[in-house]
Order: sequence, then structure tokens, then C-alpha cells
Amino acid sequence: MKRRDFLHKGALGTAGFILSSNTGWSPAPVSQTTDSRIEVLFDEPLGTISRNIYGHFAENLSGVLYDGIWVGKKSRIPNINGLRKELIEHMRKIKAPVIRYPGGCFADSYDWRDGIGLAEKRPRRTNFWANAESEKAPSSHRYDPNAVGTNEFVHFCKLIGAEPYLAANVRSLPASAFYQWVEYCNSPAGSTTLADARAAAGYAEPFRVKYWGVGNESWGCGGEFTPQEYAVEFRRYATWLPGYGDELRLIASGPNTDDWNWTREFLGEVVRKGPGELHRIYGMALHHYAWNLSRGKTQDWEAGKGDALKFDPVDWYELLREGERMEGLITGHWQILGEFDHEHRVKLIVDEWGPWYRPGSEATPGNLLEQIPTLRDAVFSGMTLDIFNGHSDKVAMANCAQLINCLNNLYLAHEDKFVITPVGHVFELYASHQGGNALRSIFSAPTLHYDRDGKPASFWGLHGSASVRDKNLTITAVNPSTNESRLAEIALRGASVKGATISLISDSDIHAHNTFEQRNVVVPRTKPLSLSGGTFVVEFPPASVAALNIQLN
Ligand code: AHR
Repeated sequence: MKRRDFLHKGALGTAGFILSSNTGWSPAPVSQTTDSRIEVLFDEPLGTISRNIYGHFAENLSGVLYDGIWVGKKSRIPNINGLRKELIEHMRKIKAPVIRYPGGCFADSYDWRDGIGLAEKRPRRTNFWANAESEKAPSSHRYDPNAVGTNEFVHFCKLIGAEPYLAANVRSLPASAFYQWVEYCNSPAGSTTLADARAAAGYAEPFRVKYWGVGNESWGCGGEFTPQEYAVEFRRYATWLPGYGDELRLIASGPNTDDWNWTREFLGEVVRKGPGELHRIYGMALHHYAWNLSRGKTQDWEAGKGDALKFDPVDWYELLREGERMEGLITGHWQILGEFDHEHRVKLIVDEWGPWYRPGSEATPGNLLEQIPTLRDAVFSGMTLDIFNGHSDKVAMANCAQLINCLNNLYLAHEDKFVITPVGHVFELYASHQGGNALRSIFSAPTLHYDRDGKPASFWGLHGSASVRDKNLTITAVNPSTNESRLAEIALRGASVKGATISLISDSDIHAHNTFEQRNVVVPRTKPLSLSGGTFVVEFPPASVAALNIQLN
């Protein structure tokens, strides 16, 4: 089965300090020989890291919205106007910049008009994912009660301090429904009937929603369009939208993984009306899931998947290999964009990324597409965020799929239970990159070797990224080896250290994960380091994600 079929079915030093995994931090000067090197080049800035690279995705899918985000106003679970309070608090902590909603595939079945007005009068509708839900799933997962709509979602974003990114329905609603959604959200108080409807719900002031997706996966669940057909639809939906003084940033539905043809044919058709048409596009979405752990044995969407919790080192590496494709996907699609958009105005928006495992490891049995992230997913996520940082000139936004109770979630929640996953902790560690100036950094480390079904295979030994903001330098790095630590000399070319802390996510068990019962198995450990000068040594334990926060002189 292919992914699109599945979705269709659903619709249907020198002086140095050692950090080690088990013992913590030893302040003794390092005498061992380093095997790796990280050079941070202050003279080679790469550009500002868009805050939105650290974005999220919350679809109306199974337990994401109902139970995950929304607990209801009358719930005994601590909430702010029905929205889960603990979630909001942690998302503030990680400075969540932007949240994409309501899908995903759900978006192209959704009529935003069902989700406004008095909650008790809102209609119940069959959710896009209903066919894939089990009989035991709560009714709200199959039949959308519309308790959460635009008001509640935007309110959720505002409570967090995040920008909403709304995905419009291109498959099953006309363009007029799209511009009226913009009107509902953004028209000034008292100006239109829809502004009055918004005010009646308690939101007189416009929401000023900037980011709008024009459909989702239009090559699949979003309409099974050809790239040319979708380009025609895109031009039509984007041709006139009310601005109300704010620039709308329209995001076109882009390719699945390495579908270079989609990118080329879509852009080719857009510019057939003239190159000026490109100005309508703020970004082109790219989706990439790491799902095929079969090591080349199959391309079948079901058979190729691995288990979230039960895996061998070879599966660990295979997942990272699949995730590391992101590097080539960004540069490849960017190159094609450049064939049409010579000034590179149109950016990449990686609005769905993460690992996707087979069913069976749900924290709440029955939750569709829910999986429990382990240390492997933390390393995967750190690696991916480092890739985005390294392409800050190309990637304007990225949205981890998905925020809560689904795929590469940062959080798991059920009723009054809530836990931050290792992925959530990675976002904590990486938050200080947001808005920083990326610096070219060179990581060199011994290549690691492993057995891939009787054949020798290799993977890089240490990777990461660096950024500076004012006098604060952040270096993040992942050590992908399941059993070897790396001792790296870090050289700052053009700066020196005043003070530093290091935070580390690691565990001696590569399967380590947090559950409702054991919430703190994988948590970051942070310590101050007393460093000085421009060169120092840090040990990166096996299977780790690290963040160094360095104050500069
Ligand atoms: O994230 C789950 C699904 O994956 C989304 O709904 C869809 O866009 C993608 O195929």
C-alpha cells in the first residue's frame, strides 16, 4: 500500500570539561585525546534562523484536538477556557512560534463555518479520519463536535504567544469560503457581518492571521490533483484575498518527499501566466516522513514501517538515514525553485516532518497515529532541527508532525495525565536558536560503522548547528552512535567564552521514553561549565542530544 492510498482509505581546549552520560560533569582538565572537532566560524553568518522553524502542527485527528488540546470548559482538568493548561504552559516555555491547524488531510474536508457561533449550536460532522478510527474510539474522534473552531484555536495560539497558521480547504469548498474565512479572522471590528459574528463570540479585534495554507497534500488526500491542476486552483484561490492592511503569507501545497516532478510542474504551470504569479506564493510546503525502516526490502506503506518502541540498533540508524534525507530534499527542491524564482523569494515550509511507525505503541490504546517517542526520536528531531538551522536562508517555517498524541509528538495527554516526551525536551533545548544568526560550523568526527543486514554501513559521527544572538551562542549537536561517545574540541573562531551551560538528553538505553506513569525517564540535565578562551573540550555521550549555551565576552 502507498501512503496516498492509506490516506485515501482514511478519508474514506585545551582546558576542557567532560560531560558524560552517567557521571555528569567532571571539572577536571581533559587529558584524553579528542576524536572530533567543532569549529564555529563567526565570520561566516548564514542568516537569521526563522523562529517559525520551531513550529508545530495540530490536526483535528483522533486525540490531538479532543483530549490533547481541548478538555472542555467544565472539565476538572486544569484548563484555560477549555484548553489544557499544562500544555499551554509548556508551549510558552519552548516559545512555540506558530501552530498549523486544522490539518493535514482533515483541512480539505473542513468547513470553518461549522466551528463558529454558539458552541451548543454547532453541527456534528464526520471527521476525515473516521473510517480509520477503531470502533472503540471516542465519538469526538469520529464525529467532530466542532467544540473547537477558529475562535478557540486562535485563542489557544494567543495564550501561547504563537501565530496561527490556518490550512484552507481547496478540495471541497469554493474559493469564496476561503476569502470569507480570511474576512472572519481579519476584518476590522464592526466592518463586516463576519466581523460582527466574531465580536459576538467575544473577539471584537481582528485575529490578524498571516499564514494561510492553500490546501494540503493536494497530490493526495487534498484532491488528487496533478501539479498542473493544482497550480490552476492555487492561482484561483490566491488571486483575490482581502488583506486589511496586513500581508497574507500564502503557502502552496508542495511535494511529498522527493517528488521533484511536483515542484517543477507546479511552478512551471504557475508561471505560465507570467513570472509575477510567483509573488502570490510566500512558501511552498514540503512533507517528509521517515517511515520506511525495511532497509530497501519494500516500498509498501504498511509493511515498510518499524515499531516505535521495539527496535535494534540497525533500526535506529535506518530511521536516522531516512530522516537525514531532509538535507538533500531541502537543497533539491530549493534548486528547482530557483529555476523559476531566480531571486529565491519563495521559501520552503516543511510543514510536516517526523518519524511514522506502525500502530501498536499508543499511550492511549485506540488513538489513531499515536506513538510514544523514545530517545531515538529525540536524536532524530535534534538532527532535523540542526538541518533546518543550516538552511535558514531556505526554510522559513517547519512544523513537527504532530504536537500532541500523534506521530512525533512533543506531548502525550489523556484525561488528567500529561507527559512531555523526549521530543518535547529537544524543543526546549533548541529554543535559544530561534531568531539567532546561524553561523557556519564545521563538525568533523569519525564515521560510525554498523552492520546493515550483513552488509557494512556507515553514518556520520557528530553533527549539529550554531547560532548567535547578541552575546549568546547556542551550539546544538547530536551523537547518533548507539554505543560510542565523542570527545570534541570546540573552537570558536572569532569569539571567546565568558560563561556556559550545557544541557544534555541521553540515556544508557536507546529505547528510553517517558510514560504517564514514569514521566521523567528522559529529561534534559543542565549544568554550568566554567570555560574561558576560545577552545574547549566537551564529551558527547552515545545516543545524545546536547545544547551548549555560551555567553561571549
Ligand atoms: O500527519 C498525518 C497526515 O499525514 C496528515 O493529515 C497528512 O497531511 C499527511 O499525509
